Amino acid sequence: MSQIRFDYTNVLADRVGEHGLTAAELEAMAPQAEAALDAVLARSETDLRWLGLPGEDEVLDAILDYASSVAGKFRNVVVLGIGGSALGNTALQSALGSPFHNVEPPPGMARLFVLDNIDPDLVGEVLDLIDPAETLFNVISKSGGTAETMSQFLIFRARLVEVLGEDGHRDNIVVTTDAKNGVLREIVEREGYESFIVPDGVGGRFSVLSPVGLLSSALAGIDVKGLLKGAMEMGARCARASFAENPALMHASIQFLLHERHGMPIAVMFPYSHRLANMADWYAQLLAESLGKKKDRAGNDVFRGPTPVRAVGVTDQHSQVQLYVEGPFDKWFTLLTVDTADHEVPIPPTPQAFADLEGVDYLGGRRLGDLFRAERDGTEIALTEAGRPNASIQFDSITARSVGQLIYMLELSVAVMGELYDVDAFDQPGVEAGKIAAYALMGRDGFEGRKAEIEASAPAKRNRI
Ligand code: PA5
Repeated sequence: MSQIRFDYTNVLADRVGEHGLTAAELEAMAPQAEAALDAVLARSETDLRWLGLPGEDEVLDAILDYASSVAGKFRNVVVLGIGGSALGNTALQSALGSPFHNVEPPPGMARLFVLDNIDPDLVGEVLDLIDPAETLFNVISKSGGTAETMSQFLIFRARLVEVLGEDGHRDNIVVTTDAKNGVLREIVEREGYESFIVPDGVGGRFSVLSPVGLLSSALAGIDVKGLLKGAMEMGARCARASFAENPALMHASIQFLLHERHGMPIAVMFPYSHRLANMADWYAQLLAESLGKKKDRAGNDVFRGPTPVRAVGVTDQHSQVQLYVEGPFDKWFTLLTVDTADHEVPIPPTPQAFADLEGVDYLGGRRLGDLFRAERDGTEIALTEAGRPNASIQFDSITARSVGQLIYMLELSVAVMGELYDVDAFDQPGVEAGKIAAYALMGRDGFEGRKAEIEASAPAKRNRI
């Protein structure tokens, strides 16, 4: 079985000079990183239940049963969710489905729309586009009360009731939420909607391998069994490997050292793969929301956290790479590379009419994949020669198993980073502050005091030109 590989050669000082890590510096992290992993794994049966998601066979069976019970019944599946209740769904669909899935879904499969915004220009377009009677809505919210998701639910439920009636609309809704808490669970119970559970100890951004990510994936024809198998393999590998052989520990330690000791606050995830581009968005949330914290675990103000950036090869070679190679030494890079693409696209031999034009002749008769790899390797060489630490996570090919491995490796790595940065990687108090202000502005009961505060502190005059 092929495993993804983590190649960190080019983060070392002997490759990139003064901005890189010395082998001794990295080795010295071993005790701290291994202790961090032990601390994380010790919580797998209590508050970090996401660690055990790949082994939840009964949940997987229930998802597959539900998916086959509705197979062929719906033209569209619409996910209503946001943040951790949406990013993984999009990432999986683009990694493992066709980029043009919705233009022409495979026979019997539904189109998949993930509505992770409430911009009326997005929701309005979806309302115009889809026929609710032909659509299954998967409402996803761990807390079961998020304003964005609940407002979407109210909008689409009303449309469904209009078309299918109070009784009939229920077959077009499936909910994924907490087993007991939240208004969404109460609604499930009142309405008798089909539902799945986000278990305790599974926070939004660590929930992609729960029904949050698996249900829409199964409905879109993704091999969810393979995905979980890959995650399980990575879990077993990281639980037993020593520091030097452990991709999650090595990745977490490099992130920590380059940021905290070498002054590189920016972590660029740079997939050289169109399929994996949205994995970088999923990772951006995982890293930012987990580690961007005002307080350390003892309650001191520390204002910690790396800044994730997403780039895509080769597209961003013509956008951001100039900055990466010549700008400030404040970034390190993780390339995602794929040895074998699903498609081979030959470039035709140079036509006789252009044979004298060296500017196209070198391309003729080659394969597009050769050019793609040469540009990727060229970027790696350019970054390295410019003294920019860069690592790569290497795939033989993109399969459900290899994607499962990647997800689990990064989740584990970020959990370990929480220990190394000494912050609570599983809360998000900064997100709550914005939510509370929005409730106040919407006039929600109980938030009158906050509304008065906001009004009192509004600027007397806007500096607007
Ligand atoms: O990672 C997180 O916890 C958040 O990004 C949540 O997923 C997001 O705020 C949506 O929350 P919920 O699933 O409760 O609607």
